[in-house]
Amino acid sequence: MADTFQKLSAIRGMNDILPGDSAQWDKLEALVRDWLRSYGYRSLRTPVLEHTRLFTRGIGEVTDIVEKEMYSFTDSLNGESLTMRPEFTAGMVRATVEHNLIYERPQRVFAIGPVFRHERPQRGRYRQFHQIDVEALGFAGPDIDVELILMLARLWRTLGLTDIRLEINSLGSADERLAHRQALITYLEGFQDQLDEDGKRRLYTNPLRVLDTKNPALQTMADGAPRLLDFLGPESLAHFDGVKQRLDDAGVAYRINPRLVRGLDYYNLTVFEWVTDRLGAQGTVCGGGRYDGLIQLLGGKPAPAVGFAIGMERLLDLWTQGATIEPTPECDVYVIHQGEAGARRAAAVAETLRDAGLDVILHAGSPSFKSQMKRADASGAEFAVILGDDEIAADEASLKALRREAAVNQRRVPLAALVDVIIAELSQTDPD
Ligand code: HAM
Repeated sequence: MADTFQKLSAIRGMNDILPGDSAQWDKLEALVRDWLRSYGYRSLRTPVLEHTRLFTRGIGEVTDIVEKEMYSFTDSLNGESLTMRPEFTAGMVRATVEHNLIYERPQRVFAIGPVFRHERPQRGRYRQFHQIDVEALGFAGPDIDVELILMLARLWRTLGLTDIRLEINSLGSADERLAHRQALITYLEGFQDQLDEDGKRRLYTNPLRVLDTKNPALQTMADGAPRLLDFLGPESLAHFDGVKQRLDDAGVAYRINPRLVRGLDYYNLTVFEWVTDRLGAQGTVCGGGRYDGLIQLLGGKPAPAVGFAIGMERLLDLWTQGATIEPTPECDVYVIHQGEAGARRAAAVAETLRDAGLDVILHAGSPSFKSQMKRADASGAEFAVILGDDEIAADEASLKALRREAAVNQRRVPLAALVDVIIAELSQTDPD
C-alpha cells in the first residue's frame, strides 16, 4: 500500500505518443498504407509474442539482437520461453509456413507496429519502436529486390525527403560465405590481440560481424580484410548485376558498400540500407535484403524471399525536421450549450451533425459560456454551434464562424437547416 499514490512513469526507452503528436503518426501511417496498396501489398498481422526459439533460430544465436536485446520471459503457466518480437520478419515467415501461404502463389505482405529491443536509449534508438515491415515471399529474381528499392525511393519522394542515400551489397550464397569466412578467420587471427571482448568471441562464431567494429583503431584491419564480393560465384554475381542494372535503368543512385553485412543472420545475396546524415548517430532509416534460406530454416518447403523494415520514429523525425506542423483541428464543429434545455437538445443536435459526416465535439464540463467559447476556439473547429434558452425557444441555433472571415460572424439558423448551412459554408471556403 505504501506506494499507492506515487506517480508512475513509462519504462525507459518506451515512449508515449501524445495527442499533439499522434496526428502526425496517423498521417504518415495513412500515407504509407496508400503507398503499400499501390504496389499490391496486403497486411499480415502477427502476434507481438512468439516462442523465443523462433528468433534464436531465425535471427541467429550470435547476433546482438538474440544475445542481448530480446525481452524474453518464462510463461509461468507452462514454463515456455516467450519473447516480445524484436522484428517482424521471423514472425511473418512463421505465419506464412504455418498457414501454407505461398505454395499456390507468392505473397506481397506488410505489417506496421511496435517491436522491442533492449538497447541503450538515445535519439533514434528506443526499446519499443515501430517498424513498417514489408516482405515479398516466394520471389527469386533481382526484379523484386529492385521493386522494393524503387518503392522506397517513391516513398521518400512523396514525403519530400532528399538527404537519404542508398547503400547496397551482396552477401552471396551460404557456400560462398563459408569460403570467405575461412579466409576471414585466417586473416583476423593475425589481429587477435587487438580485438575487444566481442571481437574475440565472434572471431570463430560470426567473423563478418567483427568487421562491423566501431573502434577506429581497428579500421585499418577491417579495411584490409578479404571482401566477400571477391568470393561470389557466377550465379550470385549475375543476381547482383541484375540488381545494379535495374537500378541504373531506373536512375536510382546507390553506393556499393562491401562492408554492409546487416545485423541479422538470415540474409543472402542482396542487402541494402537507406541512410541519412540528418539524424545524428542513428542514421539508418531502412534496412533489408534477401533471405532465401529462412522459410526452410523455419520448417517450410524451400522458397526465396526478400523484404525490408523502416524505423518509423526515425522516418518521422526526418520528415518533420524543419517543417512547421499545423496543429490538426480536433473537430469541424464545437457545440456549446446553456441551461438545462440547451444541454438536452445539444446532444441530439450533435448526433444529427455527425449523421451528416461532420466531426463534432459536444461540450462537457464547465457551464460558463466564456470557458465553453475558449474550449471551442482551442479545438480548432471551424464553427461553434450555440444552444441557449433563446435559441431553443425559437427552434434555432446560433452559428459562429471561428476561423474564417464570414460576412456575418454570428447568426441565427433554424435547427432544421443547420446541417445544410454548415456543409454549404464548409464546402465554399474549405481549401480541401
Ligand atoms: P533492422 O535493420 O534490424 O532490420 O531494423 C530496421 C529498421 O528499424 C532500422 O533501419 C531502423 O530504422 C529501425 N530500428 C532498429 N532498431 C531501432 C531502435 N532501437 N529504435 C528505433 N528504430 C530502430 C530488421 O528488423 C529486418 N527485420 C528488416 C527486414 C525485413 N529484412 C527483411 N525483411
